[in-house]
Amino acid sequence: MNVLVTGGAGYVGSVVTDGLLRAGHRVLVVDNLQQGHRQAVPESADFVQADIADAGALDAAFGRMPIDAVMHMAGETVVEYSTTDPRRYFANNVVGGLNLLDVMLKHNVRRMVFSSSAAVYGEPLTAPIEEDHPRNPINSYGLTKLMFEQIMGWYGTAYGLRHVSFRYFNAAGATERLGEDHVPETHLIPNVLKAALGGKAVSVFGTDYPTKDGSCVRDYVHVLDIAAAHILALEKLDTIRPGAFNLGNGQGYSVLEVIEVASRVTGVSIPVTRAGRRAGDPAVLVASSGRARSELGWSPQHPGLEDIVASAWRRTSTR
Ligand code: UFG
Repeated sequence: MNVLVTGGAGYVGSVVTDGLLRAGHRVLVVDNLQQGHRQAVPESADFVQADIADAGALDAAFGRMPIDAVMHMAGETVVEYSTTDPRRYFANNVVGGLNLLDVMLKHNVRRMVFSSSAAVYGEPLTAPIEEDHPRNPINSYGLTKLMFEQIMGWYGTAYGLRHVSFRYFNAAGATERLGEDHVPETHLIPNVLKAALGGKAVSVFGTDYPTKDGSCVRDYVHVLDIAAAHILALEKLDTIRPGAFNLGNGQGYSVLEVIEVASRVTGVSIPVTRAGRRAGDPAVLVASSGRARSELGWSPQHPGLEDIVASAWRRTSTR
């Protein structure tokens, strides 16, 4: 298939692009390079530098080749910033997404795989979380993802859009070539590995949560397993029930446990600074991915946290 990937120069997007190419698909990446990196886009992918807010540029991109499906991964992603700059999140994640949908319909493209987030659930009432758990986001980031899922639902009913939303839990890990390169880096695992390399302390944001050791608990899922889910979804998009799928391993690790695992993997005793809570963080997010397993045949190949951290460390320590 010919797949247009928005955000294909970003962390998850570049790994998905790589996976699509390996599976024999043709890929056109559209990325504004605000966070993404041109060199992260595999050479055999086509590339257009454009923002999803720019309808003219999108229109021209869709005119380059007949597109069979869109993977929409572009967007604002940092939970904390969404609590202080919600305007930017609504503009890019909702208005930008609507713009993309309009151009898709104009070009008669009616298949979409969307990068949603565990942030749609807010502070969960149960763990592990199933897809029908109430959605009560506690930050504007999660709300924008939920709004766009709902918009796609209506575009499905009214215009025949086939859609799947993946609610990523904590994407982590790396391939040999591709990994996390955000500026500034806000995510836990890259920051812990930087601390291991540079001998600096890593801040633990919040040690008074109602969890096993007071720090936040997250479900880390290898970026390669996320990419595999996208390829399965593309193959099954015309036959599966549209809607949302959680992607996680069903196992929660606290921030302090992640640091402990990273110390083992790197062989460095990583110093810790206890800091206050970060705005917008729920205490615990752990997925039930039963739906992805049963309906897509998804089966994570790298579920262990040590393997995930080790893959990121191999890339970090050799650069
Ligand atoms: N954390 C620290 N120190 C750091 C960085 C993070 O203690 O230097 C903590 C955070 O406070 C949080 C946990 O580590 O409790 C994980 O934080 P990340 O920034 O790595 O990831 P988030 O859970 O905030 O967010 C990620 C994605 C979101 C997604 C969410 C879903 O960035 O897009 O996972 O679980 F919504």
